[in-house]
Amino acid sequence: MTSSGVAAEIKSKLSVLEVVGETVQLKRAGSAYKGLCPFHAEKTPSFVVTPDRETWRCFGCGEGGDIFTFLMRRDGLDFREALERLAEKAGVELSERTAREDRQRKRLRDALEAAIAWYREVLLQAAQAQKARDYLAERGLADETLERFTIGYAPNTWDALTKRLIAKGFSNAEMIGAGLASPSNRGGVIDKFRGRIIIPIRDASARAVGLGGRVMPNGEGPKYLNSPATMLFDKSRTLYGIDLARAAIRREKLAVIVEGYTDVMAAHQAGFTNVVASLGTALTRGQVELATRYADAVALAYDVDLAGEAATQRGLLEELGPDQAVSKVRVVRIPAGKDPDELIRTDPDTWRAAVADAPAVLDYFMDRAVAAVDVSSVAGRREVTRRVLGVLRRVADPLERTLYLQRLSRIVDVDEKVLADALASTPVPAPRRAPAADGAAPGERVSASLPPLEAETLRLLLRHPEIAGELGDARLPFRDAAAAALATAWRDRTDPASTSEALEAFVATLDAATAELARDLLAEIRADPGPRMEPDAARDALHGCLRRLRVQRIEETIRDGRLLIDEADRDGDADRVRELERQMTILGREKAELTNVNREPAAAGARRS
Ligand code: UTP
Ligand code: MN
Repeated sequence: MTSSGVAAEIKSKLSVLEVVGETVQLKRAGSAYKGLCPFHAEKTPSFVVTPDRETWRCFGCGEGGDIFTFLMRRDGLDFREALERLAEKAGVELSERTAREDRQRKRLRDALEAAIAWYREVLLQAAQAQKARDYLAERGLADETLERFTIGYAPNTWDALTKRLIAKGFSNAEMIGAGLASPSNRGGVIDKFRGRIIIPIRDASARAVGLGGRVMPNGEGPKYLNSPATMLFDKSRTLYGIDLARAAIRREKLAVIVEGYTDVMAAHQAGFTNVVASLGTALTRGQVELATRYADAVALAYDVDLAGEAATQRGLLEELGPDQAVSKVRVVRIPAGKDPDELIRTDPDTWRAAVADAPAVLDYFMDRAVAAVDVSSVAGRREVTRRVLGVLRRVADPLERTLYLQRLSRIVDVDEKVLADALASTPVPAPRRAPAADGAAPGERVSASLPPLEAETLRLLLRHPEIAGELGDARLPFRDAAAAALATAWRDRTDPASTSEALEAFVATLDAATAELARDLLAEIRADPGPRMEPDAARDALHGCLRRLRVQRIEETIRDGRLLIDEADRDGDADRVRELERQMTILGREKAELTNVNREPAAAGARRS
């Protein structure tokens, strides 16, 4: 089991035998146990507990599930109440758990703030920071700017910061946890940032989450050393400068996103305060979500060669997903070879105009495609068509697609209908795998505590909110009670939006275990979104998952049933064997229907009616 999930933790501490055994007398039967069902009157045991799977099932009344489901059924509780009871029994403190995390976060933030204050002091006063002061001045950064961004300097020593923080009562684990220190070979810690200019990174509420450290001219190592992923710092959800830019972004209804720290500082210094940076990574969906909390649109002001590159554009579109986000993104055309920092300092008017005239990303992409080839030739027109359709394929909004098809039709002088047909038959390119967030060990998924198909189903649902209604009213075929609780809550959610705010609000309504599961799954999705499907495809995939889950439940039931048949056989109870065999036959038929549904839908439908 992984550390994920308070429900999983409880399950690891309480066996199904122990929980069911409180009220049901169980007798060993092969690899499982049997007893009289507590939920209906019976004289012959048809209630089976399977420790291998940590499940229980009754062949008389058809009920089954895990320890949580058992308590829910036995005591008439909802999942949250069952969770609380079993948490207490297992000695797992639910509220303690969140309180503990909050305390930990607070400590890490305090450590970061203490470090930032000290680095700032060093930059302002220390003799050894003279070179850093000179360098910053040379780059045209005013003292007020450095103050506003709380820029500091980390002296070139192994332990200046860590010694100080230890004296303030911070532990090695806390310094490492905050991303300020690295473990040393000798079992202690060393300063992570040495001989670097320190750029504090803050969230929208101006709370420190991490640091960027720029090397001094002629210094060693990478140009920028950033904090690793920590409890506080998730690069893919962070925009540098968002705390200082938030108000202006709201006011101007636009967030300008640049690549670098220095671009942000130069922009703010020049009065362009709606500028934030994506921290050197390709723009992520989480970053667009963060920016569009405050404005409807974002304008990307990246190096033109980079932004113009087709693969980057496609990657960007895919990262944004084929939903409304694409139309919110514009591209600022910056003169080749300049970065915003330089342009703003040398020619602020050009910068201002470039931002004001930034075209929508799809227009920009079409312009680039047209500029790249000779559209007077057939080959050129075919190439433009190919490129543009490849991108349009990822745009789900039908209106947006149609508008761009019209434009393409004019450019290449091909009938729109023909283009639409070609678009429909363009294969969806292979999905780009997003790299895992820094520090997240790939393969070690937090939802590993769930049966894989249940995790897959939940990820599909969370990724495609529009298909939640497809779950229907029937009981969901999950084995894990927390998984079932999450799917049910998702189906019954009142605000169907998938903005991070709506998701946070949703998670806040959940009990501790379901919330944790939801958070873990959402984090997994952020780190590795996988392909986003069109609604129809997602719907089909969901029904496929549900069908496979039902098949799994039936197969488990059949296995448990065989066990009871063996027992009845041994007891010489022929009637009982016959009755159970009859049930097995029905189950076998149900399974066949479910597994044949793809091959012979008509026949399966006919049998069901
Ligand atoms: P740049 O190399 O364009 O740096 O990287 P810059 O911001 O213009 O810095 P100066 O002007 O040379 O001082 C853009 C951004 O990419 C990230 C940083 O966030 C940087 O601001 N980056 C770059 C890193 O994280 N690590 C690196 O080694 C380089
Ligand atoms: Mn630069």
